[in-house]
Amino acid sequence: MDISPEPGWDRLIRFLRVEQGIVMLLGETDSGKTTLARYIVESLIERHLPVALIDSDIGQSAIGLPGTISVKIFRHHKDLEDFGCERMTFLGFTNPATVTPLMVDMTRYMTLIGRRRAGVGVVDTTGLVTGKLGKVLKIAKIRAIRPKHVVAIQKENELEEILSLIREAKIHRLRVSSVAKRRSAAARRAYRKRKLQDYFKTGSQCERIFDSKDVQFLYRGRPFFLGEKEMPDGAIIGLNHDNNTLALGVIKGIEGRSVLLQAPLRSLRGINRVVSGDMTMA
Ligand SMILES: Nc1ncnc2c1ncn2[C@@H]1O[C@H](COP(=O)(O)OP(=O)(O)OP(=O)(O)O)[C@@H](O)[C@H]1O
Ligand SMILES: [Mg+2]
Repeated sequence: MDISPEPGWDRLIRFLRVEQGIVMLLGETDSGKTTLARYIVESLIERHLPVALIDSDIGQSAIGLPGTISVKIFRHHKDLEDFGCERMTFLGFTNPATVTPLMVDMTRYMTLIGRRRAGVGVVDTTGLVTGKLGKVLKIAKIRAIRPKHVVAIQKENELEEILSLIREAKIHRLRVSSVAKRRSAAARRAYRKRKLQDYFKTGSQCERIFDSKDVQFLYRGRPFFLGEKEMPDGAIIGLNHDNNTLALGVIKGIEGRSVLLQAPLRSLRGINRVVSGDMTMA
């Protein structure tokens, strides 16, 4: 991908080298948040500064899978070759409106992991910034992760209401790039589908059965008992050890307390939570 840096980007990088910490990117969909995140990562590792990328965009994840929040630490140029994640947590939804409190909690969780392992942690976010929900979501995230820097990428003044509520972070205002391209809803759905298909294509795909008495089932962060919620064939689940999703799986059938699933895992050892949501392979 050819990135054309905008005025202000290199000044931001100079700032981040000196005042390291968490940087949260804010902007509408297609405003260039992920492109800027990538530019920050490339620029800092070129200067030998390790940087964590925390991808909290559950709809259009760049390093993680759809429906997940993820983190990767970049140290060397070769880390850029595989823009995949190191740790992820599956939420089960791709629409932030459906799962706001869990999303805020898990963004905090992944940000803490990133911050412990790199001087700079860049938090990429969803494009939900307008309306009451956008405002509530972004302010809740800011309070949860307490960024040192907030980078606002605006066309006009669409983020000013949110920015007016920020007390502690340094705000950097940037313009949406003239080369930023819009993607249709269909293109976004296709992106998610492709990522999931690629994920389930690679590695060994084993069919596993586990007994639901061995694991806790969670939906939007709340426990439920197998049978209380519908988990149709084709539903995507997260196979977790605590908050960490070790793999995604696809439901192949449920009989009594046994779940038959397909997942790129050799063993289900260590799995103590199964996260379900509204995502399917259909
Ligand atoms: N400075 C830039 N140089 C080159 N391409 C850019 C630039 N800014 C944005 N684009 C292009 O515009 C499109 C949207 O940018 P990007 O994906 O970074 O936006 P986003 O804000 O992360 O969107 P979303 O909210 O959907 O995640 C992409 O195709 C990207 O390659
Ligand atoms: Mg993005």
